[in-house]
Amino acid sequence: MKPNIKNIAVLTSGGDAPGMNACIRAVIRTGIYNGVNMFGVMHGYQGLINNNIIPMNARSVSNIIHLGGTILKTARCLEFKTDEGMETAYQNLKSQNIDGLIVIGGDGTFTGARNFSNKYDIPVIGIPGTIDNDLYGSDFTLGYDTAINTVIEAIDKIRDTADSHDRLFFIEVMGRDSGCIALRSAIASGAEAVLLPERFTSTHELITQLELGASTKKSSSIVIVSEGHKAGGAYDIAKSVKESFNHYDTKVTILGHLQRGGSPSSFDRILGSRLGFAAVNEMLKGNTRVMVGLRGNEINTTKIEDALKNHNFKLESDLLEMTKVLSI
Ligand code: F6P
Repeated sequence: MKPNIKNIAVLTSGGDAPGMNACIRAVIRTGIYNGVNMFGVMHGYQGLINNNIIPMNARSVSNIIHLGGTILKTARCLEFKTDEGMETAYQNLKSQNIDGLIVIGGDGTFTGARNFSNKYDIPVIGIPGTIDNDLYGSDFTLGYDTAINTVIEAIDKIRDTADSHDRLFFIEVMGRDSGCIALRSAIASGAEAVLLPERFTSTHELITQLELGASTKKSSSIVIVSEGHKAGGAYDIAKSVKESFNHYDTKVTILGHLQRGGSPSSFDRILGSRLGFAAVNEMLKGNTRVMVGLRGNEINTTKIEDALKNHNFKLESDLLEMTKVLSI
């Protein structure tokens, strides 16, 4: 039986990701098109606790499809992990007659959504929005494509100077527990080596790879270091490599939060629009506790529980192999 949903709220939580605004726009407009009253929650779960829930109309989301960040703001909210925090959030939703909640974010956001929807009888739909691309159930998460493009643009510039000075650069990229950004940007930028959280590479292995390049007259090299690599960050790796491989002058660049900003790529704008549209339609069909995602260019749903349980994203094996072959 279709539920009679009249009021839906949407929030963004955790790290912001390019494409979130395109997604918010799609959620708000799909809801309004279907006769639902739409609300935006400011600052993620913190806004639910603070009752910072505002009515939105079609014009509230005009001219935002091209903007990075999130107009609803975001936060990492510890209070929502407590029973008291969740209870206050629920009472605030009830006081505004909200009968459906759509959350856009990564695994922290989904953990909150799972706990909240297990405790309270309110439909919740999740949308994967994180540059890390680490949610099971969607080939791509919102913001990932833009982040890789940002990384590649930076690496291309670094390559110019690395080559001019015959230098070895260690470039650290984001992805707390996930090497997706590192791996794809390594392939797309032609990096000489990549260090990933999912696969330990010893300093010895890395040096062997760099030696090979030096012996075939490579005069500069780029090593991508994922922030979650077990042997440490780019500065640590650079230091230990330098001790026994001193062929080049060595430099380190940490790309940091610039990877999270910027105008979303066409891919992220379209993905955000598709996922936002699908999330509202799923909710109006009576679905709950699921994440909408993209699998093989088809929209699908995965239980939030499963998206979290299978958290580890499998890196594509052909890309892994290619990092060695194409960098000789
Ligand atoms: O989850 C997205 C992400 O950008 C990770 O890649 C990174 O480790 C983390 O967020 C940084 O979080 P914060 O901006 O809270 O320091």
